[in-house]
Amino acid sequence: MKVLQNMAAMRHFLIVFAQEHIDFRISEIKSLVSHLGIQADLTSHKYEEKSPFLEIDLPSEDCMQKLMNRSVLSRSAIEVWAHGSTYSEVCAGLDAVPRDEMEKYCKEDVSFCFKVHTFGKQLSSAAKLDTMKRLQDHLPLKGPVKMRDPDQVFYIFEDYGVQPNQAPDKPHRIFVGRWISDGQKRLAHRYSVKTRHFIGNTSMDALLSLVMTNQAGVQEGDLVLDPFVGTGSLLVAAAHFGGYVAGCDINYNIIHGRGKSSRAQPKTETKTKYRGRDENISANLEQYGLGHRYLDVLISDFSQDIWREQPLFDAIITDPPYGIREKTRKVGTEKEHGARDDQGSYHVPVTQSYFLSDIFTDLLNFSAHHLRLHGRLVYFLPIYRPEYSEDQIPHHPCLKIVANDEQILNSSMSRRLITMEKTHHVSDASTSMATISDNKYGEHNAIRDKFLVQNIHKRLKSDDSVSPERAADTVSPERAANTETKEEVACGSSLR
Ligand SMILES: C[S@@+](CC[C@H](N)C(=O)[O-])C[C@H]1O[C@@H](n2cnc3c(N)ncnc32)[C@H](O)[C@@H]1O
Repeated sequence: MKVLQNMAAMRHFLIVFAQEHIDFRISEIKSLVSHLGIQADLTSHKYEEKSPFLEIDLPSEDCMQKLMNRSVLSRSAIEVWAHGSTYSEVCAGLDAVPRDEMEKYCKEDVSFCFKVHTFGKQLSSAAKLDTMKRLQDHLPLKGPVKMRDPDQVFYIFEDYGVQPNQAPDKPHRIFVGRWISDGQKRLAHRYSVKTRHFIGNTSMDALLSLVMTNQAGVQEGDLVLDPFVGTGSLLVAAAHFGGYVAGCDINYNIIHGRGKSSRAQPKTETKTKYRGRDENISANLEQYGLGHRYLDVLISDFSQDIWREQPLFDAIITDPPYGIREKTRKVGTEKEHGARDDQGSYHVPVTQSYFLSDIFTDLLNFSAHHLRLHGRLVYFLPIYRPEYSEDQIPHHPCLKIVANDEQILNSSMSRRLITMEKTHHVSDASTSMATISDNKYGEHNAIRDKFLVQNIHKRLKSDDSVSPERAADTVSPERAANTETKEEVACGSSLR
């Protein structure tokens, strides 16, 4: 049992996470603590993996307020007044809290309400009411009860563990405290791609875009680049948190908002819908009142560095193509694909494949050159899970890995959200090169082939009615990997 003691030193808080993107939650809080310059103690309390409860010690309520103003994976936060594994412990804890600390929140003119939340088990309203009544006697409450918009909300959280099928009769942890603030999860709704003006097949989900921006620690006035900008979802999130945003993409149609619209069309429509004149990245920012944060977007091939040799950017946030839903291409060289005499200086060489290993090493080299010191690079790396090892994470001598968290997409595929911080400027050739020790990306379509072949094998196994011979006739894994198959359409927008 712990009680609120020594108010002048650290105070005890509880963050209640949303049960979404579970593996990114701790990294988000750690990144925010570091970027907001908050002195926080996350180590004194044990964190149970997958639990929505994170105990954290902070110097003040103000620090928690700042964290909640940014965290998109937190539901809310309370200041813990007492906690324990039984209600007797909790009641004893409440009795031990200095009264003067509690009284200002419990005065006659301060309305209040109680809320009971359980995790891992459902309780009846009657059981919840009993719990409230039991605790009420241990709090010096004098004000009126008000269910809507009260001055103070007191929370009781009961934790039954992370295995709902084996939930114990009694909670193994109980927390009681005063509500401080809610997190920013609602922003995911505000920026939802469902209502976004301009979207594409690979537009990044709003919540993940905000998580990436928090990992990068974007602050007011920062200069943020997405070198594989697509429809600009990451720019929207970065602009929301105060960044001035720019992007690049090799695709002319994306940058100019041309071509077929990615919005689902009613089945009755016979005509293909094309993007309207104002379907572009700039209009997306305008849609959210963030137009003043938009700098520009350029058509450019990332394999060719077009930027002045300078540490220009505060953050680089990006989601490169993985070669599954779209091919990874770069502009060919004049040497290999030279111009005919009649094409002269206007000739643009045809594109050639851009190996994933080169995309990621180029990204790290670019970041080492163009990020300011302590600026961050945040990106997704596709992974074939059966073969994963940490050696597949690209390294650069000037960048340190701050976080590496997995988002599982299916039984064999995931992507890892990698956060790196620039620790040194590139001073000579010896510190200028990114490397991947266990390079699984050094072939054309490296991840795509694995993804498709594994899917075909799965289908063949599950489809008893098809003889192996016929199945082999119908579609060989190799053929499937080299043709546009239905799997590609079915793989969902997380697989780029
Ligand atoms: C996964 S998508 C990015 C989606 C984006 N985050 C969004 O929310 O719309 C990857 C983008 O990289 C672009 N791309 C592919 N190869 C490129 C290259 N060599 N240089 C620059 N951009 C490239 C593609 O055109 C695509 O728009």
